[in-house]
Amino acid sequence: MPPRTPLAVCWLAIISPLLGCHAIASAYAGETGNLRDTHGLLKSAPGYEIVQRECTLCHSEKLITQTRASRDGWTETIRWMQETQNLRKFSVHEEKAILDYLTENYAPLSQGRRPPLMIREWYVLEP
Ligand code: HEC
Repeated sequence: MPPRTPLAVCWLAIISPLLGCHAIASAYAGETGNLRDTHGLLKSAPGYEIVQRECTLCHSEKLITQTRASRDGWTETIRWMQETQNLRKFSVHEEKAILDYLTENYAPLSQGRRPPLMIREWYVLEP
């Protein structure tokens, strides 16, 4: 055995896998970071902090910002997640802050689309 082998083996067996793992780990972190990196979508308004903290643990805040609901609707969504998705129970105070924020900022739009056309009189195209 040449005398330098142990050092080379040591490098190959220990150091480079560590570097490799590190590279893979940071690539992975970058990737998952991108998937969840939707910070800044939630409207900055009173109650923002608790919603940002409690409501983005399992999914992106996009799921919230693309939803609009009444207070009852938001309460139902929260109950549904608590009953089926392991969302923790909130204290009365926390839940009020969350619902206040959601109801204030993500209420149903009063009119989502233009009103239907009113056709008063049909006409016949002349040939
Ligand atoms: C413990 C995990 C968890 C937490 C924390 C959580 N959710 Fe969810 N939520 C889910 C899962 C799982 C879904 C279903 C995701 C899917 O359909 O892709 C979901 C779906 C949703 C939806 C879409 C519902 C629909 O009808 O499609 C909304 C809106 C929502 N969550 C809002 C919130 C709000 C607001 C909070 C904070 C109070 C919150 N989530 C916190 C797990 C969680």
